[in-house]
Amino acid sequence: MSKEKVQIFDTTLRDGEQAAGTRLGAREKLEIARQLVRLNVDIIEAGFPASSPEDFEAVRLISEQIEGPVICGLTRAIKKDIEVCQKALKKAKRSRIHTGIGVSEIHIAGKFADDKYGRTMGEKQATILKMAVEAVRHTAGYTDDIEFYAEDSGRADRAFLYEILEAVIDAGATVVNIPDTTGYSMPEQYGALIRDIRANVPNIEKATISVHCHDDLGMAVANSLAGVKNGARQVEGTINGVGERAGNAAIEEVVMAIHTRHDFFEEVQTNINTREFYRTSRMVADLLGMPVPANKAVVGRNAFAHSSGIHVDGFLKKRETYEIMRPETIGLAESRVVLTARTGRHGLQHRLEEMGYTLSKAELDKTYERFLAVADKKTEVFDDDLAAIISDEIHVVEQIYEMQYLHVACGTGTLPTASVKIKTKDQTNQAAACGDGPVDAAYEAIRLATGLSPKLENYSIRAVTSGKEALGEATVRITEDGRTFIGRGISTDIIEASARAYIDAINRMVSAQNKGQQPEVKAEL
Ligand code: KIV
Ligand code: ZN
Repeated sequence: MSKEKVQIFDTTLRDGEQAAGTRLGAREKLEIARQLVRLNVDIIEAGFPASSPEDFEAVRLISEQIEGPVICGLTRAIKKDIEVCQKALKKAKRSRIHTGIGVSEIHIAGKFADDKYGRTMGEKQATILKMAVEAVRHTAGYTDDIEFYAEDSGRADRAFLYEILEAVIDAGATVVNIPDTTGYSMPEQYGALIRDIRANVPNIEKATISVHCHDDLGMAVANSLAGVKNGARQVEGTINGVGERAGNAAIEEVVMAIHTRHDFFEEVQTNINTREFYRTSRMVADLLGMPVPANKAVVGRNAFAHSSGIHVDGFLKKRETYEIMRPETIGLAESRVVLTARTGRHGLQHRLEEMGYTLSKAELDKTYERFLAVADKKTEVFDDDLAAIISDEIHVVEQIYEMQYLHVACGTGTLPTASVKIKTKDQTNQAAACGDGPVDAAYEAIRLATGLSPKLENYSIRAVTSGKEALGEATVRITEDGRTFIGRGISTDIIEASARAYIDAINRMVSAQNKGQQPEVKAEL
């Protein structure tokens, strides 16, 4: 039986990056996009260019540098958004514009409450339909690869949904995206929605149906698969399921379900190179600062670990007893390379390339220097240590404040005290402070030295690898004027890692404040 292809649309860099408290710079997005090429996704949604100058730059850079997948940009059903998106995508070999509008009554009443859109729901729906068709027609002036999203389809009035889909397909949409924006649907309902769209939208054969599911009730993957079973031929999702609120459908889970249960999904296949899943998952986790839970399906640390006596015994006798997928299929269980201070620059570069990172000479120099410092303290440096070093070194945040010195004194029965020296472009400031603990003292000293006191919302520390010399990775979340910034820092010394994380967050905050004073993306960009 010949199989139909299900296109995989990766939105890690757009919807995934909308996860609370995360932010990727253009350089980090480019690194992930390169890895998505190795994974062989069909479409990369690189960002929402009209949303910020940073997103515009990321989409522009990815369009210029990435070959293979279609590069897609998101817009609202607004002409200016579409024009900005087109400019960002200009250099892409193959590009797609993803435009759309809210279609459920809840969305329409909430977002289009103003009487200028109509006074009754019927009048408002007529306006929404007109805006959708105009947006698609306008997009058709730039590309013939047009995807339309009917936001909150999962809760939309069916008759209106069918009507708007028919109209946008007539206007030129080649893909229609049916998002379950709020993760409200159950798999049977969502599957039926796709089946009913195929039965009730007369011109549906002219477009590909795409599924885009959120995980608010933990159904995103099940709903996406129900959509495929009922005729959808594009699945949208993110690596590790990162995204708004509870996240999006995890691509690795959707694809491995289709792959492992080919008996059940006998009519379809994907072109994904599943052996790149583990690597991609680690890279996304590290660059986004969102560690993968140990029990996460497919890519979690324990996904292939057998520990209870009965399981281990059964597994050793015949692995299929307790294992439905081979770890090699997702790129796990390759040689566990251990690097040491004697590995050398070339060996380090080789390993980084195997892990999927492509660094410039300057980045490699910085990484090597940091690697040597870590290797000096730890006898063995593992892949996870390297990934942490990379995410610490290559992120593009401007080093407005740089820590030159940190001394902390603490112990039982003493008052924890810290002193820091912090350099800026024009001056060096020193400060000392006491606190409830060594981290608190260090943070107070940093606040005094920088003259900044953003609210500390969250602080966490984790060991990147095991052992008493493990690298510690600290993550902090700070807020100022209602905006949140995440900072990360690593070191074999957890107080130093904590201080680095705090300064990283402050650098992101000040850099965003400086950029906020610059003009918005202009039409001529
Ligand atoms: O969840 C959603 O509805 C979306 C659309 C913007 C595609 O992300
Ligand atoms: Zn979404």
